[in-house]
Amino acid sequence: MAPLAALLATITLCASVALAVENTTYFNPILPGFHPDPSCIYVPEWDNTFFCASSSFNAFPGIPLHTSKDLQNWKLIGHVLNRREQLPRLAETNRSTSGIWAPTLRFNNDTFWLLTTLVDDDRPQSDSSRWDNIIFKGKNPYDPSSWSNAIHFNFTGYDVEPFWDANNKTYITGAHAWQVGPYLQLAEANLDTGTVGDWQIIWNGTGGMAPEGPHIYRKDGWYYLLAAEGGTGLGHFVSMARSKTLTGPYESNPANPVLTNANTTSLFQTVGHADLFQDGSGNWWGVALSTRSGPNYTNYPMGRETVLTAVTWPPNEFPIWTPISGQFTGWTLPPSSNSTLRGAGPLVASPETMAFSPNLTTLPLHFTHWRYPHPSYYTLSPPEKPSSLRLTPSFLNLTGLNGNYAGVQHSPDGQTFVGRRQTDTLFTYSVDLSFSPTVLGEEAGVSAFLTQNHHLSMGITLLPASASTTRFPGINATVTESGATLIPQVRFQAASYVPVPATVVAPLPGAWRGLDLTLEVRAVNSSHFAFSVGPAGRRLEMRTLVTASNDAVSWGFTGTILGVFATRNGGEGRASAYVTGWRYVGEGQFRS
Ligand SMILES: *[C@@H]1O[C@H](CO)[C@@H](O)[C@H](O)[C@H]1NC(C)=O
Ligand SMILES: *[C@@H]1O[C@H](CO)[C@@H](O)[C@H](O)[C@H]1NC(C)=O
Ligand SMILES: *[C@@H]1O[C@H](CO)[C@@H](O)[C@H](O)[C@H]1NC(C)=O
Ligand SMILES: *[C@@H]1O[C@H](CO)[C@@H](O)[C@H](O)[C@H]1NC(C)=O
Ligand SMILES: *[C@@H]1O[C@H](CO)[C@@H](O)[C@H](O)[C@H]1NC(C)=O
Ligand SMILES: *[C@@H]1O[C@H](CO)[C@@H](O)[C@H](O)[C@H]1NC(C)=O
Ligand SMILES: *[C@@H]1O[C@H](CO)[C@@H](O)[C@H](O)[C@H]1NC(C)=O
Ligand SMILES: *[C@@H]1O[C@H](CO)[C@@H](O)[C@H](O)[C@H]1NC(C)=O
Ligand SMILES: *[C@@H]1O[C@H](CO)[C@@H](O)[C@H](O)[C@H]1NC(C)=O
Ligand SMILES: *[C@@H]1O[C@H](CO)[C@@H](O)[C@H](O)[C@H]1NC(C)=O
Ligand SMILES: *[C@@H]1O[C@H](CO)[C@@H](O)[C@H](O)[C@H]1NC(C)=O
Ligand SMILES: *[C@@H]1O[C@H](CO)[C@@H](O)[C@H](O)[C@H]1NC(C)=O
Repeated sequence: MAPLAALLATITLCASVALAVENTTYFNPILPGFHPDPSCIYVPEWDNTFFCASSSFNAFPGIPLHTSKDLQNWKLIGHVLNRREQLPRLAETNRSTSGIWAPTLRFNNDTFWLLTTLVDDDRPQSDSSRWDNIIFKGKNPYDPSSWSNAIHFNFTGYDVEPFWDANNKTYITGAHAWQVGPYLQLAEANLDTGTVGDWQIIWNGTGGMAPEGPHIYRKDGWYYLLAAEGGTGLGHFVSMARSKTLTGPYESNPANPVLTNANTTSLFQTVGHADLFQDGSGNWWGVALSTRSGPNYTNYPMGRETVLTAVTWPPNEFPIWTPISGQFTGWTLPPSSNSTLRGAGPLVASPETMAFSPNLTTLPLHFTHWRYPHPSYYTLSPPEKPSSLRLTPSFLNLTGLNGNYAGVQHSPDGQTFVGRRQTDTLFTYSVDLSFSPTVLGEEAGVSAFLTQNHHLSMGITLLPASASTTRFPGINATVTESGATLIPQVRFQAASYVPVPATVVAPLPGAWRGLDLTLEVRAVNSSHFAFSVGPAGRRLEMRTLVTASNDAVSWGFTGTILGVFATRNGGEGRASAYVTGWRYVGEGQFRS
């Protein structure tokens, strides 16, 4: 009996050892919602933590930083661009595609380095002032003030990264502006001063449109060069090349493209713009951007998100990437609890309920504006209404004065808007609003906002009774005023490059006047948002004003931000809006 017991014990032991090395199941996206162009590193010196940076275009604060220990649970720890004086010019870019493009995050010599480009997409490709290339450096990523002001360097292009060679010479690589290129270029550089040497072409890619996003990795005596090609839409792909010398010539990997979902039926499309990093056990991982649009590419309000995959990189060979999907198995990481993650922001995927109680002294870290906010337009617990967020209306509405393609927002006060990213396919977002417009055009409400030219918005506003197009059914809708009399109305308005539903205006039912209202945006399915309103705290009385396709906010480089706005619509009004409640609940994440 004894030998058999020992044998059984041995078998059990072997089984548990085998179990321990079995691969783990991972889920995508790891950073859902507007988190494009990921760049990630693993930093043993900072408590064995993974750090990822994303691009942010015109959103402020800009360049979010997330951390993780297990590559599955992620936490927002702050933003590289967190003060206006770091980069005043973000206020001046005037196109929806302008702002902060792809960053590269690296750690070297006890310093975090973040290289990126502030793009003014209004200027010609060949104009070097279109491409404001910048270096931020910081010693402590958890401390916003640690990040330097922008150090500018001269490069007529974008997607820049720092690279340190074995001899400690420092270089910058980047994508030369593609309509006058396309080339991937390299120059020697001083990252402390922004001085750069002569740019030289190192690779032209495999022939896809717009070779960009270059990253160089040194391994086994080779320089491996990774690139994105095909543009950031359905044709996006990742290619690689390698050389024995940094400046080339680089030979293309015969297996290119090494990662793409082009020409597949996957929900995860536009896979590209990747980065590679190693975990504490030496295993390789890749991140990339992807859009959960399916090949139809019509409804993808969350835009370009961050996805993860396992990479196998044998000695002296090119790495092998696991294709991107909603679920995959890859290298085992030690389980980690969320509580070991430092940092001030929320965990990705945590629901939120905000009452703006008086002990709240700053807006939560994940709250986002469009360009720099006017600080005095956002007041927490003002004396006249504690436990609220007071919004001072901006002269401009969300679209801006001129609703044309350029989407100009030039005005000292910008737009009063604050929101959070849509991070779930299905969600309910709502706010409680105390707002009494007294002047024509004063308006406050909620928006599913992608850019100034792409948003679905519902506000309370003062308009002539004759402007009504409909009425809320089934409630005490008594409205006696008519014609030119100004009355509070609920207005749904949309802006997009695709046809949008017509503006809908309904008089605020008599029984609701003077009450705090709940305004809600809910994803009823993956393609439609419902906009509803009703007296705060009386759910059964909520009425849906409009259900609209989210194709209006499925476009371009950014992703939908759900938020509140207050505006004078170019008029004279001064009425503040008070947000007394704020809720976001994820109700479903589509992964296939
Ligand atoms: C963009 O902004 C600049 C100022 O920063 C302005 O001169 C230019 O006219 C604007 N472009 C358009 C198309 O409005
Ligand atoms: C590392 O940083 C220190 C000070 O921050 C600097 O003096 C030194 O030159 C740096 N070393 C390299 C290789 O850049
Ligand atoms: C930047 O580089 C371009 C192209 O080489 C050159 O024309 C321009 O003068 C440079 N600008 C600065 C500020 O060095
Ligand atoms: C490169 O810099 C690192 C960090 O400053 C230092 O430890 C190393 O000795 C340097 N190597 C060379 C070849 O100068
Ligand atoms: C890249 O393309 C340019 C323009 O066609 C050409 O001059 C250059 O030689 C090419 N470089 C490489 C490394 O292939
Ligand atoms: C997708 O298919 C088209 C048509 O066959 C082809 O031209 C393209 O190269 C493919 N894209 C990728 C990334 O493989
Ligand atoms: C793609 O989306 C459009 C617009 O929603 C729709 O008309 C079309 O039927 C869809 N095509 C497929 C194949 O699902
Ligand atoms: C675990 O995942 C890695 C990366 O995809 C792969 O190379 C390896 O073969 C997998 N191991 C097992 C036992 O499946
Ligand atoms: C970490 O937090 C997320 C979001 O709140 C939650 O879904 C997840 O279960 C937590 N994981 C662990 C290991 O505590
Ligand atoms: C702030 O006040 C709210 C409500 O009174 C309470 O739930 C919360 O725990 C407080 N937060 C802090 C950080 O004190
Ligand atoms: C409906 O609302 C109006 C305006 O507030 C009020 O005068 C009236 O009494 C209400 N009717 C009912 C049946 O509640
Ligand atoms: C924004 O304001 C402008 C005038 O200031 C107006 O033309 C436009 O209709 C308003 N609304 C939207 C949604 O653009």
